[in-house]
Amino acid sequence: MLGRVVLSRDQIANVVERLAEEIDSDLEGRSPVFIGILKGCVYFFTDLTRCLSHTVEVDFIQTSSYGTGTTSSGTVVLVKDITVDVRDRDVYLVEDIVDTGTTLADLIQLIEARHPRSVQIVALLSKPSRRKIEVPVDFIGFEIEDVFVVGYGLDFAERYRNLPDIHEYVPEG
Ligand code: IMP
Repeated sequence: MLGRVVLSRDQIANVVERLAEEIDSDLEGRSPVFIGILKGCVYFFTDLTRCLSHTVEVDFIQTSSYGTGTTSSGTVVLVKDITVDVRDRDVYLVEDIVDTGTTLADLIQLIEARHPRSVQIVALLSKPSRRKIEVPVDFIGFEIEDVFVVGYGLDFAERYRNLPDIHEYVPEG
């Protein structure tokens, strides 16, 4: 069941602008490739990259999702790889939400093995109390408590991604 609004579209827009400003000043002199982690990143990724004043290359990667539940299986499977060569590039991995950290930890390893110049992590949301693996998140939009959220790209069983605000999702029963 769809619950209260956790972050409104206005709050999201403000934080996306703030993150873009921070990232912009970090981009000076770099050779940036922005890699979005599908599918949850799409709204955040497109809003964020459009706010940047630097030209950046974009690509996408997809891992297996949570399926139909609200807890992580702890196993990440690559579903779609990037096509760009990241060797000697400055990679910005863009994630919707960091929960246990498993997805990012695996993806950082995968990207590092391809010899980029640097890897930075950008996440709209973080649930620090749920972390099982510490991952270095360089740019964070909001830290939230341990609630399951949907909207602005985030889903429950592939539903609610296109909601403009982020809501709590309360499992039935
Ligand atoms: P992690 O590997 O446990 O950090 O999980 C990261 C992924 O789990 C995210 O990219 C989301 O796809 C999904 N996820 C984690 N928490 C939520 C949530 O509250 N709502 C929707 N998806 C979530």
